[in-house]
Amino acid sequence: MIVVLLGPPGAGKGTQGERIAAALGVPKIATGDVLRAAVKAGTPLGLEAKGYMDRGDLVPDVVILGIMKQALAAPEQARGVVLDGVVRTVPQAEGLAAVLAELHRPLDVVLLFTIAEDALVARLSGRTVCDGCQTPFTGRAPSETHAECAQSPKGTLVRRKDDEPDAVRNRMRVYEAQTAPVVAWYRAHGANVAAIDALGALDVVQARALKAVGKG
Ligand code: AP5
Repeated sequence: MIVVLLGPPGAGKGTQGERIAAALGVPKIATGDVLRAAVKAGTPLGLEAKGYMDRGDLVPDVVILGIMKQALAAPEQARGVVLDGVVRTVPQAEGLAAVLAELHRPLDVVLLFTIAEDALVARLSGRTVCDGCQTPFTGRAPSETHAECAQSPKGTLVRRKDDEPDAVRNRMRVYEAQTAPVVAWYRAHGANVAAIDALGALDVVQARALKAVGKG
C-alpha cells in the first residue's frame, strides 16, 4: 500500500505516519528526516539543504526527486510505504506519479491532515525532537537524553531551528503557496484524497487515519 501524507507544518504527519506505517507493516519515509540526518552528518546533500530548511523554505524539487526515486526503488518498500512530506509541490507530485508508473505501482490514498493555524503554532512552539531518531515530543525539555532512542549513541532532545517563530510563519506561507495546490492536483487526477481532522488525542486522530487506509 502506498500512502502519501499531506498537511501543514505541525499537523502531526510525523507522529501519525509512524503509527500508520506500524499498523500497515510498512516503512515510513520522511524527506524532512532524511534531510535533517544529512545536515547532521554534514554530507553534500545536508550542506545544500541546510539554508533552505533553517529559513522554512522548500529544498529544490530536483533534490527531493532524487531522494524519492532512490527511496522507492529500495527492496524494503516492496510491500508498501508511507510517504511523509515527500510531496510538497506540483512538480514533486508529477515526479512521484512518474516514478510509481515506472514501478507499476498505484498510489492508494492521500491523507490530508487538516487543523487550524493557531493549534499548529502552539504545537510547534512546544515541540522538541530527538536528534537521533527524529521522534517529536510535546512537553519534554531540550537537552534531555531520549532514553527510548533506537540509535546508538542515544539521541538528545533539541528544538528544531525551523520551529522558531519567523521560520514557522514562513513555513505556513510556503505551505499555502506551494503545497496546498498539490491537494487540488491530486483531486484533479482522480486520487483518493481523504481529509483527516488532525485535532484531538493521538489515538483519536490515529483511528481516523487508520479508517481512511482501510485498517479501522
Ligand atoms: P518536515 O520535517 O517534514 O516538516 P513539516 O512538514 O513542516 O512538518 P513537521 O515535522 O513540522 O510537523 P508534522 O506534521 O510532522 O507534525 P509532528 O508529528 O512533528 O520538513 C522540514 C523541512 O525539510 C521543510 O520545511 C523543507 O525545508 C524540507 N523538506 C522536507 N520535505 C521536503 C519536500 N518534499 N520538498 C522540499 N523541501 C522539503 O507534530 C508536531 C507536534 O505536535 C509534536 O510536538 C507532536 O508531539 C505534537 N502532536 C502531534 N499530534 C498531536 C495531537 N493529536 N495532539 C496534540 N499534539 C500533537
